[in-house]
Parts: sequence; structure tokens; C-alpha cells
Amino acid sequence: MNWQNDLTRILKIDYPIIQAPMFGVTTPEMVAVTSNANCLGSLALADLNTEKCIEVIRAAKHLTNKPFAVNFFAHSIPEITEALKGKYDKAKFFVERLAKQNNLEIEIPSIDDLKINSYHQQIDAIISENCKILSFTFGNLDKQSIDRLKSNGTLLIGTCTSVNEALILEQSGIDVICVQGLEAGGHRGSFGSEDIPKIGGLSLLAQVSETVNVPLIYAGGIFNAKTLVASKTLGASGFQIGSLLLGSAESALEAFQKERLRKVKETDIVLTKSFSGRFARGIKNTFIDIMETSEFILPFPYQNKLTFELRKIAKINQNTEFLNIWAGQSINEYSGKSTADIIRSLIIETENNYC
Ligand SMILES: Cc1cc2nc3c(=O)[nH]c(=O)nc-3n(C[C@H](O)[C@H](O)[C@H](O)COP(=O)(O)O)c2cc1C
Repeated sequence: MNWQNDLTRILKIDYPIIQAPMFGVTTPEMVAVTSNANCLGSLALADLNTEKCIEVIRAAKHLTNKPFAVNFFAHSIPEITEALKGKYDKAKFFVERLAKQNNLEIEIPSIDDLKINSYHQQIDAIISENCKILSFTFGNLDKQSIDRLKSNGTLLIGTCTSVNEALILEQSGIDVICVQGLEAGGHRGSFGSEDIPKIGGLSLLAQVSETVNVPLIYAGGIFNAKTLVASKTLGASGFQIGSLLLGSAESALEAFQKERLRKVKETDIVLTKSFSGRFARGIKNTFIDIMETSEFILPFPYQNKLTFELRKIAKINQNTEFLNIWAGQSINEYSGKSTADIIRSLIIETENNYC
């Protein structure tokens, strides 16, 4: 298989394999070993504040001088209204009581004490650190931000989960589109958070590639040469792998989380809004079961902030029933090898079988 294509040329990489940005999993080490293997590492910044963004970007730069992408959430932040405050207080009471009933003592901050960062502040860090590739999810950037980043020479990769979202990204001048199939682990990259498109990767990628003219990266279910080549056949130039790297040596997941992953069964993997207020794919547990039947799921990012203390204490207690473990539908061995070895095996398997 000839790996060189439109994407390898614009990203200045040898292999169009993209280590998926995975907040809570990707580390500067994971990013660096991927980029050092001449693929593209992606550093997930989620909604970190400017100082923290600079710190992790510098940590990655310290480990590689190859190109890597930074990634953030491009969502709008719902205003705090009296109605939202009322809902937040009820949800806070519900989650604190649920935690206590399960021997997890937490105190959730009140809504006025939450620190919510918008992506506009993160752009300052990205420009000051001279990052040249930005991928984003949960929507499109506003025009002013696109213009600012483009005049800095930053290549933009937007995420779509429908043909319509792909068209919006292309029309606003986004350079590359990451097409995220429903199989993918973690959050859906959809522009909205309510009635999101739930199109499977096969149908979506085939239609997007017929509709837009920018290079496409496919994300969702790639875990071996066969799935990689399938997405190439459907029009992808780049292949983004997330769940395949969850167990890797550079993953920030702790040993007990990797152990839970290695026991996962297909019926355990669900799409849920319970941890963050946005649909995300991960392993079903007690918290998801209870929240899904409650009236206490707030809009993103408030639900995400609301559950932060619970997730933190559950992690300390190694309690997988009250912690999110995101994973996609393609169950794999969640190898503990280095990210570089996992990627190398994928390249060799592809070359041996599809050249
Ligand atoms: C644990 C986890 C965290 C994720 N966090 C992010 C993120 O911060 N930004 C983002 O754009 N996508 C995020 N994603 C989605 C991935 O970038 C990618 O689309 C997905 O993992 C691809 O599907 P796969 O898991 O089947 O490989 C995350 C996925 C996982 C599994």
C-alpha cells in the first residue's frame, strides 16, 4: 500500500495514521512516540485553561520536534440562567446522595464556583506556542477564530458526524475533515448535543467522501489492517485510531481501568450522556444505569463539571462503577505495548496484506 497521499503531504508525515486525541488518556509521551514514528500525534486539551495548555504543549514539544496536532472542544457554553441554577442544585443533591450511598464522600461545587474555559482562550495558547495543526470537535470555530488561526498558518481539522456538518466545515474553509462514525469511543463530535446524528461509519464516510472535496480522516472502529483499508476504500486519506491505544504503555489510564477494558463484552459498550451531558461511548456501569433513568442530566459542560468530583474519588477508590471508561465498539486486546509498537504492527499488517 502506498501511504503517501494528499494528507501526508499537508501534514508532513510519512504514514497517514493519526493517534486520536483522547482527553484523560493521551499524554505528551503518547503524542511524541506517535509523531516520532512519522505518524501524527494529537494532544487533547479539552477545556484546559491557558496555562495548563501551554504546560502540556511544551511537555510534548520537549519530547518531539516532529509535527503534532493539538485538539480542543469547539462548543458554545450555555448561559447560566435561574432555571439552570435550579436544575444544577437538584442534580448536585442527587449525585452527592448517590455517592454517599455508595461510600464515596464528595462535595460538588456550586454552579457559581465552576471554572468554565472557552476555546477562545485556548487559541491564545496555541498561537503563542506556534502550534501548526489544530483539530477540534463538538462544533465549528467562529469566523474570527478561523481567520486568526489561518493567519498564524495553523492547519485546521474539524470533526463531523453527518454530511451536513461536513458541508458546514468545508464551506467555512476548514482544511481537513475528521469523519467520526458512530462506532467511535468517547464523545460524539456532533455540533449539537441533543438529537445528534447517529450514522454508522460505513454509511457516513461513503456519503461525505461523495460530497466534499477536502481530505478526510476517518475515526471509529479502526483496529486492524482490514478496518483501515475498508475506510481507505470508502474515501479516507487518514486513519485515526483511539480505542486501539487505550491499554498502551503511554496511556494515562490506570492499571485497574485497563484491566476493566480487557474484560469488556460487546453488550457492555453503550452511548450515554450521564457523565458529561453529551453523548459518549463507553463501558456501562451503575452510575450510567441510575443516571439514564433519572431527570438529573444537565447540558454539557455543566454535567461534566457536576460529575468531576465523583469521577475523581471513584478513581482514587478504583471503583469502575462510578467512573467513565470510554471505549469504542471495536473490542480489541487493549495491548499494553508501546503506542509506537502498536502503530508499527498496524503498518506492517497493512503492508503485508494489502500491498
Ligand atoms: C477515552 C477517549 C477520549 C476521547 N477524547 C477526545 C477528545 O478529547 N477530543 C476529540 O476530538 N475526540 C476524542 N475522542 C474521540 C477520538 O478522538 C476518536 O474519534 C475515536 O477514539 C475513534 O474511534 P475508536 O475509539 O473506535 O478508534 C476520545 C475517545 C476516547 C476513546
